[in-house]
Amino acid sequence: MPPISRILLVLAAILMATPPAIAPVRAGTEIITAGPEAKQERAKPRRFLLTDTAGRAVTDQHFLGRYLLVYFGYTYCPDVCPTSLLTVSEVMEALGDRAASITPVFISVDPDRDTPEVLAEYASAFDERIVALTGPKAYVDAAVAAYNAYYKIVPDPNSPEDYTVDHTASLAFVAPDGRLITRFGYGQTTEAIVERVIEVLEADAKVN
Ligand code: NI
Repeated sequence: MPPISRILLVLAAILMATPPAIAPVRAGTEIITAGPEAKQERAKPRRFLLTDTAGRAVTDQHFLGRYLLVYFGYTYCPDVCPTSLLTVSEVMEALGDRAASITPVFISVDPDRDTPEVLAEYASAFDERIVALTGPKAYVDAAVAAYNAYYKIVPDPNSPEDYTVDHTASLAFVAPDGRLITRFGYGQTTEAIVERVIEVLEADAKVN
């Protein structure tokens, strides 16, 4: 076999062994999107219509012009949500004045238990700047789909009202035009997120 064919075979083997460009949620890593699928994923409009804790209808358009840190979860979550929202509050704190252009958004996928009162109290316990949203199931599902997120109710056979919810645990970082910049996987450190956010803010400031 001529050497060039052998090289091509080796290359083909390497390519086939490479995982797809958009991997599912990975713990402790930034979910970097690259390649053509990522371009599509970034360009996808993140449309939603939800309700804030004051009962007002809020759409994605409301946030245009602001950077968002979007997280899906529920207030009864035993550990993942509190850990993630604590990280969000630490990120906001560490960003100082830079946080002025960023809105953290917490979208509850459990509207049955997360009433506006419950949501307001929960979110503000982490950071007053967190905008907590939810809505009727169909609207929540649409928002989840818009962000390529996921959730699933896990029933508790012994106690129907004590169900848990499996859900996406990554934090979506959204640009002022509504496009996805990146996702921070569950377990990313506050420092790593802050560093990346500042990098983006500074790069955008240079362009604009
Ligand atoms: Ni959770």
